[in-house]
Amino acid sequence: MTDLDVWTAMATARAIRRYTDEPVDDATLGRCLEAATWAPSGGNWQSWRFVVLRSPEQREVVARAAAISLEIIEPLYSMSRPDPDDGSRIARSHRATYEFHDRAGEFTSVLFTTKHYDSASELLLGGSVYPAMQNFLLAARAQGLGACLTSWASYGEDLMRSSIGVPDDWLMAGHVVVGWPRGHHGPLRRRPVGDVTYLDRWGEPATPIVGPAS
Ligand SMILES: Cc1cc2nc3c(=O)[nH]c(=O)nc-3n(C[C@H](O)[C@H](O)[C@H](O)COP(=O)(O)O)c2cc1C
Repeated sequence: MTDLDVWTAMATARAIRRYTDEPVDDATLGRCLEAATWAPSGGNWQSWRFVVLRSPEQREVVARAAAISLEIIEPLYSMSRPDPDDGSRIARSHRATYEFHDRAGEFTSVLFTTKHYDSASELLLGGSVYPAMQNFLLAARAQGLGACLTSWASYGEDLMRSSIGVPDDWLMAGHVVVGWPRGHHGPLRRRPVGDVTYLDRWGEPATPIVGPAS
């Protein structure tokens, strides 16, 4: 197991969409799931359930959900299958995304669910499961495991919910694919912190804290 400090893990935990054929072992995956349970949640209720999807039947379901999602995200992100000889950054990124969706049935993945309570908005309820997902991602990164969040459990919700047997009062919050990277973690491309942080009032630069906006 690699031993990364948390800063390096955070700064290099980019989405990995291409994997080797080596299966993800139970011990590595188990550590990611345990790290997920260390996350905070409202009232410390820990009303989350994680479903590991790796049987041939559930992988097939995931593959169908990925295909549904691809049809939706293609126009959303103006994506098309790149020419084989196009080496531009965008073509390489699209190529990885297509491969990811096309090969979805080959991967192990984890569905993150959280209990629905009428007393809170879905956004607030999400706040009690997304920290667990992020812990999972960082634990994956720390162990050298690749991971990519997906929207498949949202666009393919009906299919996945019925096939997995998720009760109606559990929200399908997120879905993460894991695998040993073909390629490398990091670096990240993100907006400068000064562009996205305000001080006291909306729109007021937080320059003393995070430096100027670009
Ligand atoms: C809620 C959510 C849904 C996502 N869904 C997909 C997806 O369906 N397919 C995909 O290839 N990547 C998906 N991603 C991955 C994002 O595209 C990726 O995290 C983002 O582009 C940043 O990439 P980077 O961390 O490699 O810089 C999703 C990410 C999030 C947070």
